[in-house]
Amino acid sequence: MALGGDGGRRHTTALIVRVILGLSASFLFCFSAANQPCTNRKSSSPLVHLASSAVFPLQGNVYPLGYYSVSLNIGRPAKIFELDIDSGSDLTWVQCDAPCRGCTKPREHLYRPNNNLLQCEDPLCTTFHSPASHPCETTDDQCDYEVKYADHGSSLGVLVKDYFPLKFTNGSLLSPHLAFGCGYDQKYFGPVTPATAGVIGLGNRKVSILSQLSHLGLARNVVGHSLSGQGGGFLFFGDDLVPSLGSIFVHPPAELVFDGKATSVKGLNMIFDSGSSYTYFNSQAYQAIVTLVRNDLKGKPLKDATEDQSLPICWKGRKPFKFVPDAKNYFKPSALSFTNAKNVQLQLSPEAYLIVTVKTWPEVGLGNLNIIGDITLQDKMLIYDNENQRIGWAPANCNTLPNSRTVAIIAR
Ligand SMILES: *[C@@H]1O[C@H](CO)[C@@H](O)[C@H](O)[C@H]1NC(C)=O
Repeated sequence: MALGGDGGRRHTTALIVRVILGLSASFLFCFSAANQPCTNRKSSSPLVHLASSAVFPLQGNVYPLGYYSVSLNIGRPAKIFELDIDSGSDLTWVQCDAPCRGCTKPREHLYRPNNNLLQCEDPLCTTFHSPASHPCETTDDQCDYEVKYADHGSSLGVLVKDYFPLKFTNGSLLSPHLAFGCGYDQKYFGPVTPATAGVIGLGNRKVSILSQLSHLGLARNVVGHSLSGQGGGFLFFGDDLVPSLGSIFVHPPAELVFDGKATSVKGLNMIFDSGSSYTYFNSQAYQAIVTLVRNDLKGKPLKDATEDQSLPICWKGRKPFKFVPDAKNYFKPSALSFTNAKNVQLQLSPEAYLIVTVKTWPEVGLGNLNIIGDITLQDKMLIYDNENQRIGWAPANCNTLPNSRTVAIIAR
Protein backbone atom coordinates (compact mmCIF):
# COMPACT_ATOMS: atom_id res chain seq x y z
CA MET A 1 0.00 0.00 0.00
CA ALA A 2 1.59 3.20 -1.13
CA LEU A 3 1.98 5.97 1.38
CA GLY A 4 3.50 8.62 -0.80
CA GLY A 5 6.73 8.17 -2.68
CA ASP A 6 7.29 4.50 -3.16
CA GLY A 7 5.70 3.96 0.19
CA GLY A 8 4.23 0.67 1.04
CA ARG A 9 3.90 -1.28 4.12
CA ARG A 10 5.23 -4.41 5.48
CA HIS A 11 5.00 -6.41 8.62
CA THR A 12 3.52 -3.62 10.63
CA THR A 13 2.71 -6.21 13.15
CA ALA A 14 5.44 -8.60 12.22
CA LEU A 15 7.82 -6.55 14.25
CA ILE A 16 5.56 -6.47 17.19
CA VAL A 17 4.07 -9.83 17.22
CA ARG A 18 6.80 -12.18 18.19
CA VAL A 19 5.27 -13.18 21.45
CA ILE A 20 6.30 -16.56 22.69
CA LEU A 21 3.54 -19.03 23.37
CA GLY A 22 3.59 -19.86 27.01
CA LEU A 23 1.54 -21.52 29.66
CA SER A 24 -1.76 -19.83 29.95
CA ALA A 25 -2.97 -18.46 26.72
CA SER A 26 -5.78 -16.02 26.56
CA PHE A 27 -7.74 -15.45 23.45
CA LEU A 28 -7.26 -12.50 21.26
CA PHE A 29 -9.36 -10.90 18.64
CA CYS A 30 -6.86 -9.13 16.57
CA PHE A 31 -8.54 -6.53 14.49
CA SER A 32 -7.10 -3.13 15.03
CA ALA A 33 -8.61 0.19 14.24
CA ALA A 34 -7.84 1.81 10.99
CA ASN A 35 -10.22 3.83 7.54
CA GLN A 36 -8.87 5.28 4.43
CA PRO A 37 -9.77 4.57 0.87
CA CYS A 38 -7.34 2.37 -0.89
CA THR A 39 -5.88 3.90 -3.99
CA ASN A 40 -6.24 1.72 -7.03
CA ARG A 41 -3.05 0.48 -8.49
CA LYS A 42 -2.22 1.56 -11.98
CA SER A 43 -1.19 -1.14 -14.37
CA SER A 44 2.05 -0.67 -16.23
CA SER A 45 0.46 -2.44 -19.26
CA PRO A 46 3.44 -4.44 -20.48
CA LEU A 47 3.36 -5.83 -23.99
CA VAL A 48 4.02 -9.42 -23.07
CA HIS A 49 2.33 -12.45 -24.49
CA LEU A 50 4.50 -15.37 -23.61
CA ALA A 51 4.55 -16.85 -20.22
CA SER A 52 6.37 -19.22 -18.04
CA SER A 53 6.49 -18.82 -14.26
CA ALA A 54 9.13 -18.80 -11.58
CA VAL A 55 8.17 -20.53 -8.32
CA PHE A 56 9.84 -20.06 -4.94
CA PRO A 57 9.29 -21.93 -1.67
CA LEU A 58 8.41 -19.74 1.31
CA GLN A 59 9.37 -19.92 4.96
CA GLY A 60 7.63 -18.32 7.90
CA ASN A 61 4.24 -18.17 9.58
CA VAL A 62 1.77 -15.68 11.00
CA TYR A 63 2.44 -16.66 14.55
CA PRO A 64 4.83 -16.63 16.28
CA LEU A 65 7.16 -15.31 13.56
CA GLY A 66 4.78 -12.79 12.02
CA TYR A 67 6.08 -12.88 8.45
CA TYR A 68 6.62 -15.05 5.40
CA SER A 69 9.90 -14.89 3.53
CA VAL A 70 11.56 -16.14 0.38
CA SER A 71 15.22 -16.99 -0.22
CA LEU A 72 16.36 -15.30 -3.39
CA ASN A 73 19.64 -15.72 -5.24
CA ILE A 74 21.21 -12.46 -6.32
CA GLY A 75 24.50 -11.75 -8.10
CA ARG A 76 27.33 -13.55 -9.86
CA PRO A 77 28.41 -15.63 -8.04
CA ALA A 78 24.98 -15.78 -6.47
CA LYS A 79 24.41 -15.17 -2.78
CA ILE A 80 21.22 -16.04 -0.96
CA PHE A 81 19.12 -13.33 0.68
CA GLU A 82 16.10 -14.06 2.82
CA LEU A 83 13.48 -11.41 2.09
CA ASP A 84 10.14 -10.58 3.64
CA ILE A 85 7.38 -10.86 1.04
CA ASP A 86 5.25 -7.73 0.78
CA SER A 87 2.43 -7.33 -1.69
CA GLY A 88 1.84 -3.85 -0.23
CA SER A 89 5.02 -2.26 -1.63
CA ASP A 90 7.00 -2.27 -4.87
CA LEU A 91 10.71 -2.00 -4.27
CA THR A 92 12.86 -5.01 -3.45
CA TRP A 93 15.83 -4.12 -1.29
CA VAL A 94 18.54 -5.91 0.64
CA GLN A 95 20.78 -4.70 3.42
CA CYS A 96 23.87 -3.08 1.95
CA ASP A 97 27.53 -3.69 2.67
CA ALA A 98 28.25 0.01 3.06
CA PRO A 99 28.53 2.22 6.13
CA CYS A 100 25.21 1.10 7.36
CA ARG A 101 22.61 2.02 9.94
CA GLY A 102 19.93 -0.45 10.84
CA CYS A 103 21.66 -3.33 9.10
CA THR A 104 21.08 -6.32 11.36
CA LYS A 105 23.00 -8.91 9.35
CA PRO A 106 26.70 -9.76 9.68
CA ARG A 107 28.84 -8.50 6.81
CA GLU A 108 28.97 -11.79 4.95
CA HIS A 109 25.19 -11.67 4.59
CA LEU A 110 25.08 -8.15 3.22
CA TYR A 111 24.89 -7.20 -0.44
CA ARG A 112 28.05 -5.62 -1.76
CA PRO A 113 27.63 -3.26 -4.72
CA ASN A 114 30.22 -3.81 -7.40
CA ASN A 115 30.30 -0.85 -9.77
CA ASN A 116 26.71 -1.61 -10.61
CA LEU A 117 24.86 1.46 -9.38
CA LEU A 118 21.80 2.43 -11.36
CA GLN A 119 22.16 5.85 -12.95
CA CYS A 120 19.90 8.67 -11.95
CA GLU A 121 18.74 8.98 -15.56
CA ASP A 122 17.52 5.39 -15.74
CA PRO A 123 13.74 5.27 -16.29
CA LEU A 124 13.41 2.99 -13.25
CA CYS A 125 14.80 5.79 -11.10
CA THR A 126 11.85 8.04 -11.85
CA THR A 127 9.79 6.08 -9.33
CA PHE A 128 11.85 7.91 -6.74
CA HIS A 129 12.84 11.13 -8.49
CA SER A 130 10.58 12.72 -10.99
CA PRO A 131 12.84 14.60 -13.41
CA ALA A 132 10.98 17.83 -12.65
CA SER A 133 11.34 17.75 -8.88
CA HIS A 134 14.75 16.03 -8.72
CA PRO A 135 16.69 16.58 -11.91
CA CYS A 136 19.85 14.53 -12.19
CA GLU A 137 22.81 16.83 -11.70
CA THR A 138 25.37 14.95 -13.72
CA THR A 139 25.02 11.94 -16.00
CA ASP A 140 26.65 9.64 -13.50
CA ASP A 141 24.61 10.60 -10.48
CA GLN A 142 23.49 7.58 -8.55
CA CYS A 143 19.84 6.83 -7.96
CA ASP A 144 18.97 7.18 -4.29
CA TYR A 145 15.75 5.76 -2.97
CA GLU A 146 13.70 6.00 0.18
CA VAL A 147 10.77 3.74 1.01
CA LYS A 148 8.45 4.45 3.90
CA TYR A 149 6.14 1.80 5.24
CA ALA A 150 2.79 2.24 6.91
CA ASP A 151 4.24 1.01 10.20
CA HIS A 152 6.58 4.06 10.02
CA GLY A 153 9.55 1.85 9.26
CA SER A 154 11.69 2.85 6.31
CA SER A 155 14.66 1.96 4.15
CA LEU A 156 17.00 4.39 2.48
CA GLY A 157 19.71 3.47 0.02
CA VAL A 158 20.82 3.36 -3.56
CA LEU A 159 19.50 1.44 -6.55
CA VAL A 160 21.79 -1.16 -8.09
CA LYS A 161 21.42 -3.70 -10.89
CA ASP A 162 22.45 -7.32 -10.69
CA TYR A 163 21.68 -10.83 -11.94
CA PHE A 164 18.81 -12.88 -10.51
CA PRO A 165 19.26 -16.56 -11.40
CA LEU A 166 15.73 -17.94 -11.82
CA LYS A 167 14.39 -21.35 -12.77
CA PHE A 168 11.20 -21.22 -14.80
CA THR A 169 8.42 -23.78 -14.88
CA ASN A 170 9.27 -24.68 -18.49
CA GLY A 171 12.72 -25.79 -17.31
CA SER A 172 14.69 -22.74 -18.51
CA LEU A 173 17.33 -21.28 -16.24
CA LEU A 174 17.72 -17.57 -16.85
CA SER A 175 19.62 -14.78 -15.13
CA PRO A 176 17.85 -11.50 -15.85
CA HIS A 177 19.59 -8.28 -14.86
CA LEU A 178 17.24 -6.42 -12.52
CA ALA A 179 17.28 -3.24 -10.46
CA PHE A 180 16.75 -3.33 -6.70
CA GLY A 181 17.73 -1.37 -3.63
CA CYS A 182 20.89 -1.63 -1.55
CA GLY A 183 19.61 -0.31 1.77
CA TYR A 184 22.09 1.34 4.13
CA ASP A 185 19.76 3.11 6.53
CA GLN A 186 16.84 1.15 7.92
CA LYS A 187 14.41 2.08 10.64
CA TYR A 188 12.32 -0.59 12.27
CA PHE A 189 9.45 -0.16 14.61
CA GLY A 190 8.56 -2.56 17.34
CA PRO A 191 10.53 -4.41 19.97
CA VAL A 192 12.29 -6.83 17.62
CA THR A 193 14.38 -6.19 14.55
CA PRO A 194 13.56 -8.49 11.66
CA ALA A 195 15.49 -11.64 10.93
CA THR A 196 15.30 -11.11 7.19
CA ALA A 197 17.88 -9.35 5.03
CA GLY A 198 15.35 -7.12 3.30
CA VAL A 199 12.01 -6.99 1.54
CA ILE A 200 10.73 -8.28 -1.77
CA GLY A 201 8.08 -5.85 -2.99
CA LEU A 202 5.34 -7.61 -4.94
CA GLY A 203 3.53 -4.43 -5.97
CA ASN A 204 3.18 -3.55 -9.62
CA ARG A 205 4.99 -0.28 -10.15
CA LYS A 206 7.66 -0.54 -12.76
CA VAL A 207 10.53 -0.79 -10.29
CA SER A 208 9.24 -4.09 -8.84
CA ILE A 209 11.10 -7.26 -9.76
CA LEU A 210 8.00 -8.71 -11.38
CA SER A 211 7.30 -5.62 -13.50
CA GLN A 212 10.89 -5.76 -14.70
CA LEU A 213 10.55 -9.47 -15.58
CA SER A 214 7.35 -8.75 -17.40
CA HIS A 215 8.94 -5.83 -19.24
CA LEU A 216 11.71 -8.19 -20.36
CA GLY A 217 9.05 -10.57 -21.67
CA LEU A 218 9.93 -13.33 -19.21
CA ALA A 219 6.70 -13.60 -17.23
CA ARG A 220 3.24 -12.13 -17.26
CA ASN A 221 2.64 -9.39 -14.73
CA VAL A 222 0.89 -11.74 -12.33
CA VAL A 223 2.14 -12.68 -8.88
CA GLY A 224 0.64 -15.16 -6.50
CA HIS A 225 1.27 -16.80 -3.20
CA SER A 226 0.04 -19.69 -1.13
CA LEU A 227 0.72 -19.16 2.56
CA SER A 228 0.30 -22.32 4.58
CA GLY A 229 -1.33 -22.11 8.00
CA GLN A 230 1.24 -24.70 9.06
CA GLY A 231 4.04 -22.37 8.00
CA GLY A 232 5.81 -22.09 4.66
CA GLY A 233 4.11 -22.14 1.29
CA PHE A 234 5.11 -20.84 -2.11
CA LEU A 235 5.31 -17.69 -4.21
CA PHE A 236 5.22 -17.39 -7.99
CA PHE A 237 5.76 -14.82 -10.73
CA GLY A 238 3.77 -15.34 -13.95
CA ASP A 239 0.42 -16.91 -14.65
CA ASP A 240 1.37 -20.53 -15.31
CA LEU A 241 0.12 -21.76 -11.95
CA VAL A 242 -3.15 -19.91 -11.91
CA PRO A 243 -5.93 -22.46 -12.35
CA SER A 244 -8.18 -21.39 -15.19
CA LEU A 245 -11.07 -23.07 -13.44
CA GLY A 246 -11.87 -22.26 -9.86
CA SER A 247 -10.11 -18.89 -9.68
CA ILE A 248 -12.26 -16.04 -8.45
CA PHE A 249 -11.32 -12.47 -9.32
CA VAL A 250 -12.65 -9.40 -7.57
CA HIS A 251 -12.30 -5.64 -7.28
CA PRO A 252 -13.17 -3.80 -4.08
CA PRO A 253 -15.32 -2.62 -2.36
CA ALA A 254 -16.50 -5.35 -0.06
CA GLU A 255 -19.23 -5.87 2.51
CA LEU A 256 -19.00 -7.79 5.71
CA VAL A 257 -21.12 -10.90 6.16
CA PHE A 258 -21.44 -12.44 9.61
CA ASP A 259 -22.85 -15.91 10.19
CA GLY A 260 -24.19 -15.95 6.66
CA LYS A 261 -26.10 -12.67 7.03
CA ALA A 262 -25.47 -9.23 5.57
CA THR A 263 -24.32 -6.55 8.04
CA SER A 264 -24.23 -2.77 8.05
CA VAL A 265 -20.52 -2.84 7.21
CA LYS A 266 -20.32 -1.99 3.51
CA GLY A 267 -18.13 -0.14 1.06
CA LEU A 268 -14.84 -1.45 2.44
CA ASN A 269 -11.87 -0.81 0.19
CA MET A 270 -9.69 -3.71 1.16
CA ILE A 271 -5.96 -3.87 0.55
CA PHE A 272 -4.58 -7.37 0.14
CA ASP A 273 -1.24 -7.12 1.87
CA SER A 274 1.02 -10.09 2.44
CA GLY A 275 3.40 -7.78 4.31
CA SER A 276 0.86 -7.44 7.07
CA SER A 277 0.55 -10.31 9.50
CA TYR A 278 -2.99 -9.50 10.52
CA THR A 279 -6.20 -8.13 9.11
CA TYR A 280 -7.28 -4.59 9.97
CA PHE A 281 -10.51 -2.66 9.61
CA ASN A 282 -11.29 1.00 10.02
CA SER A 283 -12.70 1.86 13.40
CA GLN A 284 -16.33 1.97 12.30
CA ALA A 285 -16.21 -1.47 10.72
CA TYR A 286 -14.18 -2.77 13.60
CA GLN A 287 -16.72 -1.63 16.18
CA ALA A 288 -19.54 -3.17 14.16
CA ILE A 289 -17.74 -6.49 13.92
CA VAL A 290 -16.86 -6.51 17.60
CA THR A 291 -20.50 -5.89 18.48
CA LEU A 292 -21.61 -8.78 16.28
CA VAL A 293 -19.06 -11.12 17.80
CA ARG A 294 -19.85 -10.02 21.35
CA ASN A 295 -23.58 -10.45 20.90
CA ASP A 296 -23.02 -13.86 19.47
CA LEU A 297 -20.86 -14.90 22.44
CA LYS A 298 -23.63 -14.19 24.95
CA GLY A 299 -24.41 -17.34 26.88
CA LYS A 300 -21.20 -19.05 25.78
CA PRO A 301 -18.51 -19.92 28.33
CA LEU A 302 -16.01 -17.32 27.17
CA LYS A 303 -15.06 -14.44 29.44
CA ASP A 304 -13.37 -11.14 28.71
CA ALA A 305 -9.71 -11.44 29.57
CA THR A 306 -8.95 -8.08 31.10
CA GLU A 307 -5.40 -9.05 32.07
CA ASP A 308 -4.39 -8.48 28.45
CA GLN A 309 -5.04 -4.76 28.58
CA SER A 310 -2.85 -3.56 25.80
CA LEU A 311 -5.14 -5.24 23.32
CA PRO A 312 -8.59 -4.09 22.48
CA ILE A 313 -10.27 -7.41 23.09
CA CYS A 314 -9.30 -10.75 24.52
CA TRP A 315 -11.32 -13.69 25.68
CA LYS A 316 -10.44 -16.65 27.83
CA GLY A 317 -12.10 -20.00 28.17
CA ARG A 318 -12.50 -22.26 31.19
CA LYS A 319 -9.24 -23.88 30.25
CA PRO A 320 -6.37 -22.10 28.52
CA PHE A 321 -6.49 -22.31 24.74
CA LYS A 322 -3.36 -23.56 23.12
CA PHE A 323 -4.42 -23.33 19.51
CA VAL A 324 -7.02 -21.38 17.60
CA PRO A 325 -8.97 -24.54 16.62
CA ASP A 326 -9.58 -25.20 20.34
CA ALA A 327 -11.76 -22.14 20.41
CA LYS A 328 -13.14 -21.90 16.92
CA ASN A 329 -16.45 -23.55 17.79
CA TYR A 330 -17.33 -20.54 19.91
CA PHE A 331 -17.04 -18.16 16.99
CA LYS A 332 -19.23 -17.77 13.94
CA PRO A 333 -17.61 -17.53 10.55
CA SER A 334 -17.74 -14.23 8.75
CA ALA A 335 -16.85 -13.27 5.22
CA LEU A 336 -16.08 -10.34 2.98
CA SER A 337 -18.54 -10.21 0.13
CA PHE A 338 -17.43 -8.49 -3.05
CA THR A 339 -20.69 -7.20 -4.41
CA ASN A 340 -19.48 -6.21 -7.83
CA ALA A 341 -18.18 -9.72 -8.39
CA LYS A 342 -21.53 -11.49 -8.25
CA ASN A 343 -21.44 -11.83 -4.50
CA VAL A 344 -18.19 -13.64 -4.29
CA GLN A 345 -17.08 -14.14 -0.71
CA LEU A 346 -13.69 -14.29 0.94
CA GLN A 347 -14.30 -16.45 3.98
CA LEU A 348 -13.08 -15.19 7.34
CA SER A 349 -13.19 -18.35 9.38
CA PRO A 350 -12.23 -17.91 13.04
CA GLU A 351 -8.71 -18.99 12.08
CA ALA A 352 -8.61 -16.02 9.74
CA TYR A 353 -9.25 -13.47 12.44
CA LEU A 354 -8.25 -14.88 15.79
CA ILE A 355 -4.93 -15.67 17.34
CA VAL A 356 -3.88 -17.19 20.63
CA THR A 357 -1.68 -15.00 22.72
CA VAL A 358 -0.07 -15.02 26.08
CA LYS A 359 1.01 -11.60 26.88
CA THR A 360 0.65 -8.01 26.22
CA TRP A 361 1.54 -6.54 22.98
CA PRO A 362 1.15 -3.02 21.86
CA GLU A 363 -1.98 -2.05 20.06
CA VAL A 364 -1.19 -1.20 16.49
CA GLY A 365 -3.07 1.59 14.81
CA LEU A 366 -2.82 1.72 11.04
CA GLY A 367 -4.55 4.99 10.46
CA ASN A 368 -7.58 4.41 8.35
CA LEU A 369 -6.58 1.43 6.32
CA ASN A 370 -8.59 -1.72 5.72
CA ILE A 371 -6.01 -4.42 5.27
CA ILE A 372 -6.35 -8.11 4.58
CA GLY A 373 -3.20 -9.63 6.00
CA ASP A 374 -1.55 -13.03 6.11
CA ILE A 375 -3.88 -14.40 8.76
CA THR A 376 -6.76 -14.20 6.29
CA LEU A 377 -4.76 -15.03 3.18
CA GLN A 378 -3.62 -18.41 4.45
CA ASP A 379 -4.31 -21.78 2.85
CA LYS A 380 -5.46 -20.52 -0.50
CA MET A 381 -3.73 -19.28 -3.63
CA LEU A 382 -3.85 -15.49 -3.80
CA ILE A 383 -3.36 -14.04 -7.27
CA TYR A 384 -2.52 -10.40 -7.98
CA ASP A 385 -3.27 -10.01 -11.67
CA ASN A 386 -1.61 -6.70 -12.39
CA GLU A 387 -2.29 -6.87 -16.11
CA ASN A 388 -6.01 -6.76 -15.50
CA GLN A 389 -5.88 -4.89 -12.19
CA ARG A 390 -7.75 -7.49 -10.24
CA ILE A 391 -7.12 -9.77 -7.32
CA GLY A 392 -8.23 -13.35 -7.06
CA TRP A 393 -7.92 -16.53 -5.13
CA ALA A 394 -8.29 -20.22 -5.73
CA PRO A 395 -8.19 -23.38 -3.61
CA ALA A 396 -4.62 -24.66 -3.23
CA ASN A 397 -2.52 -27.03 -1.22
CA CYS A 398 0.01 -24.61 0.19
CA ASN A 399 2.07 -27.35 1.79
CA THR A 400 3.63 -28.70 -1.40
CA LEU A 401 5.44 -26.87 -4.11
CA PRO A 402 3.40 -27.19 -7.29
CA ASN A 403 4.89 -29.54 -9.82
CA SER A 404 5.51 -27.45 -12.89
CA ARG A 405 4.43 -30.16 -15.36
CA THR A 406 1.03 -30.84 -13.84
CA VAL A 407 0.66 -27.16 -13.27
CA ALA A 408 1.20 -26.29 -16.90
CA ILE A 409 -1.55 -28.74 -17.82
CA ILE A 410 -4.00 -27.24 -15.37
CA ALA A 411 -3.28 -23.74 -16.47
CA ARG A 412 -3.68 -24.06 -20.19
C1 LIG B 1 10.79 -20.71 -20.91
O1 LIG B 1 10.34 -19.56 -20.23
C2 LIG B 1 11.20 -18.45 -20.29
C3 LIG B 1 10.62 -17.36 -19.40
O2 LIG B 1 9.31 -17.05 -19.76
C4 LIG B 1 11.37 -18.01 -21.74
O3 LIG B 1 12.25 -16.91 -21.81
C5 LIG B 1 11.93 -19.16 -22.54
O4 LIG B 1 12.00 -18.81 -23.92
C6 LIG B 1 11.05 -20.40 -22.39
N1 LIG B 1 11.73 -21.53 -23.00
C7 LIG B 1 11.14 -22.33 -23.86
C8 LIG B 1 11.97 -23.44 -24.37
O5 LIG B 1 10.00 -22.16 -24.23
